[in-house]
Amino acid sequence: MLIDFDQPINRINSNSIKWDAMEKLYGVSPKDGLAMWVADMDFKAPEAVNLCIKNMSEHGIHGYFGDDSGYKTALRSWMSKKHNWEIEDSWSAETHGLGAAIGISLRAYSEPGDEVIIFSPVYHSFARIIKANNRKVKEAKLQIENGIYKFDLDNLGKSLSGNEKIMLFCSPHNPGGRIWKKNELEDLVTFCEAHNLVLLCDEIHADLTYPNFKHNTLLAAVPSAKNRAVVMVSTTKPFNLSGGEMGSVIIPDPDLRNKFDLAHEATGKMPNRIGMKMAEAAYLYGEEWLFQLVNYLEKNKFCFEQGIKSIKGFESMPLQSTYLAWINFEKTGLSPTEFYRLLFKEAKIAANIGSSFGSGGEMYVRINFACRKAIVEDAIERLQNTFS
Ligand SMILES: Cc1ncc(COP(=O)(O)O)c(C=O)c1O
Repeated sequence: MLIDFDQPINRINSNSIKWDAMEKLYGVSPKDGLAMWVADMDFKAPEAVNLCIKNMSEHGIHGYFGDDSGYKTALRSWMSKKHNWEIEDSWSAETHGLGAAIGISLRAYSEPGDEVIIFSPVYHSFARIIKANNRKVKEAKLQIENGIYKFDLDNLGKSLSGNEKIMLFCSPHNPGGRIWKKNELEDLVTFCEAHNLVLLCDEIHADLTYPNFKHNTLLAAVPSAKNRAVVMVSTTKPFNLSGGEMGSVIIPDPDLRNKFDLAHEATGKMPNRIGMKMAEAAYLYGEEWLFQLVNYLEKNKFCFEQGIKSIKGFESMPLQSTYLAWINFEKTGLSPTEFYRLLFKEAKIAANIGSSFGSGGEMYVRINFACRKAIVEDAIERLQNTFS
């Protein structure tokens, strides 16, 4: 069945942070503005997911969730089929999203005051969660080589204080959509071994890779990292289920797993019934939907990148995954303040401010094109009219 991603769906007044908080956050009204910020898509979830919620509603009892074996089987076969990674059911635990999984991991593997390495610019909540847990953010600024991000471990090695306990890594990278190569992952693991760091690998965007690219899941690419790695995966980004706040941590090492479990217990550790059921249905029946989604997104990406090229001073980082365009506006000569005034007030586009992703993000904007193609075209026209 062909999925109609061009179907207009009104999200205003649907408790959508993307549409219902944009005016408060960016001063852009949803009435005449475009919501192109948070990583949330304007598409309906796969039919099988919606059917599963319908069945739950018909049953009508929404008590505590028990028996995660169906979900674990679905996760195991997805990892095997899509990522060539054979996992065991006992390795994984389910959390209320990956933001929560990061917080639990920080408490499991470090103490207040310890430092946590992140490669900036990176998903803004990494720094927020680290600071909220009274740990210190250590930014390792990414370099740009041939237009895409690279990490610089030599420089990072020289700058270590000795208080670093964890490396929190984003793979594929958000923003910029970089898929890390096997040899890069090997270098990273060698670095973590040399400095005795736990490697938290956030792979939430792993299933949103474009047809010519293949995500390398950490422990299939570098099995020797299994004694220091915590891999985090989720259905919420690829299948647009973010409000279901659900994700999995996969930890092959028993000692690391035990530490995680203790910190997890300290948060109450109960699965979210709706998130669990949605995720299970997505892994079991969502493959074809995802295939069609990625093809649709690829066309949006092409249209958006072509449009961006037509605007003097704009440069879009070539995306290997994700629907989050990462655009450098430095060559427009505009200051960030002036750029964002024009973006919000004139173009009326709500998009993520680059500096919120940390060092290196100051002259960028992140624009989410996971919406109808007609909206992507409208956005390009607005950008051309405002900035050309
Ligand atoms: C890299 C990354 N990790 C985690 C999250 C948030 O995950 P969750 O909604 O499961 O807390 C996001 C959301 O955009 C993300 O981009």
